Amino acid sequence: LRSFWTTCPCVSLFRDSNGTRSESLDMTVDLDLTTMIRRVDPRFLSVTIDASLAEEEKFMKLLSSPKIRTLAGALSPAFLRFGGTRQDFMVFSPQSSLQDSLASCEDLDLPPGLEKHLKEDWTLQQVVLLQEDLQRKYRRLKFTESTVDLLHAFANCSGLDLIFGLNALLRSADHSWNSSNANVLLRYCESRNYRMSWELGNEPNSFEKKAGVRVDGYQLGLDFTRLREMMSQSKLYRDAGLYGPDVGQPHGHRIDIMQGFLKSGADAIDAFTWHHYYVNGRDTTLEDFLDPDILDSLTLKTRDVLEKVDLVSPGKAVWLGETSSAYGGGAVGLSDTFVAGFMWLDKLGLGARLGLDVVMRQVLVGSGSYHLVDNNLDPLPDYWLSLLYKQLVGPEVLRVETRSGSNRRVRLYLHCSHTQRPGSVTLVSMNLSGRSVRISIPVLVSSSSVDVFVLQSDAPGKEGLCSRSVKLNGELLNMVDDKTLPDLRGARLPPGQHLELPAFSLAFFVFTDARATACQGRGRLR
Ligand SMILES: *[C@@H]1O[C@H](CO)[C@@H](O)[C@H](O)[C@H]1NC(C)=O
Ligand SMILES: *[C@@H]1O[C@H](CO)[C@@H](O)[C@H](O)[C@H]1NC(C)=O
Ligand SMILES: *[C@@H]1O[C@H](CO)[C@@H](O)[C@H](O)[C@H]1NC(C)=O
Repeated sequence: LRSFWTTCPCVSLFRDSNGTRSESLDMTVDLDLTTMIRRVDPRFLSVTIDASLAEEEKFMKLLSSPKIRTLAGALSPAFLRFGGTRQDFMVFSPQSSLQDSLASCEDLDLPPGLEKHLKEDWTLQQVVLLQEDLQRKYRRLKFTESTVDLLHAFANCSGLDLIFGLNALLRSADHSWNSSNANVLLRYCESRNYRMSWELGNEPNSFEKKAGVRVDGYQLGLDFTRLREMMSQSKLYRDAGLYGPDVGQPHGHRIDIMQGFLKSGADAIDAFTWHHYYVNGRDTTLEDFLDPDILDSLTLKTRDVLEKVDLVSPGKAVWLGETSSAYGGGAVGLSDTFVAGFMWLDKLGLGARLGLDVVMRQVLVGSGSYHLVDNNLDPLPDYWLSLLYKQLVGPEVLRVETRSGSNRRVRLYLHCSHTQRPGSVTLVSMNLSGRSVRISIPVLVSSSSVDVFVLQSDAPGKEGLCSRSVKLNGELLNMVDDKTLPDLRGARLPPGQHLELPAFSLAFFVFTDARATACQGRGRLR
């Protein structure tokens, strides 16, 4: 067997820290290239903006920064969900003084002086928001046409599909949803010809904690049905998407909410949404982020939700409508660093395989430390990981199985490649261990050329895991300028039968001539 150790032109990539391979584990895997297990939505990797950005309307202007537009645009196609706790406190209050139509995308650029100012203020605003979250004291927020215009322009100019989360806490005396404010908003959006889709309510399971209002699942399903009726009366929104109920992960009374909601609301929605976080941001550790048990906890929960939905509404799409590593705004010093990539990439791999159709990452930019783009609007390691995923991983999920040497710290997922080259496959792999592992792949695949994309921290060891910088094949990733991203190029390896990875790395192997029959289909022609 020929190993890349002897043939790889960039051998330094594959050496562990002391340059030896004495402790390497061997692992043999089977790749099934003939069967597509399932196909996810082309927008599988999607992103969110938390509604807290709109608590003070001026911060919505940050979305006109050329830098954030460039970063968002590179993730297209994707959904952009606008929602979160504060969506259920937001009331549309049009100023009705006629606003100018928005200029073209190019003319929207935020002046650099204003951007600097807003970024400084945003840092202070985050402290205020955190305080509110800790005390669970939320006040009613008014927003005007400006918030909607900026949000829509951002989505549209970046090629993202906007989902707007409506306030479900506006209630009438009989406890049913009062749709009158939503109706005003829908009519405004229609008058502007804004193509978008809708949600209603965020984590209804905690309405009581946040607002002292209890809404059961069955009532919420009726409210969604009401919203669907409103949409069907609109030419523009008759065929638009409606997603919900954005409930927390399944346990306790959330299960009642899910089941009650499905009874009365399943027909109203295009996809069932739930939220998932692995850990609590306030008491988690670096070890948690690398713990295979914690990563595997997604499996049971996902299966649980899929089962419950399938029972009532077979075939209904199930999405993670909001998800990240740690709740409570993320874990400071972890959720925004290299190590967060293990939870993120594993969620994408596992989620696609288990049966989720879309996974929306909380957040693209703004609130908390789980953002993809930091408060200076610079991309963090998980942004680069998302970008690589978009460029390399297609929607068709294939099977990869470990034949021998199974190791829970090495995690593998297989998809058709996101490429026009038919038959090409991408192996997604993660090495959560500090030990070297060699993966042997079947001859059929190993005779293919391989493009390798290895992401590593810019610093070695544990310290490096908490770095906010990341290297691709040894080179630090940075934007070229505010409007230009670098070319993410792989390292071409000659055909061979072993793949090796450095410790604590995330990698994509693209087998360009694997001739996978599962990846030849007509659906792949773009
Ligand atoms: C719904 O809300 C609107 C606006 O606040 C109010 O005028 C109306 O009376 C409410 N309707 C019901 C049935 O409570
Ligand atoms: C959305 O963007 C396209 C160009 O990308 C533009 O032609 C269209 O007018 C925009 N639509 C709205 C409603 O802003
Ligand atoms: C995992 O990390 C170890 C530690 O350096 C490395 O030697 C090994 O090759 C890696 N294995 C895989 C499959 O990435």
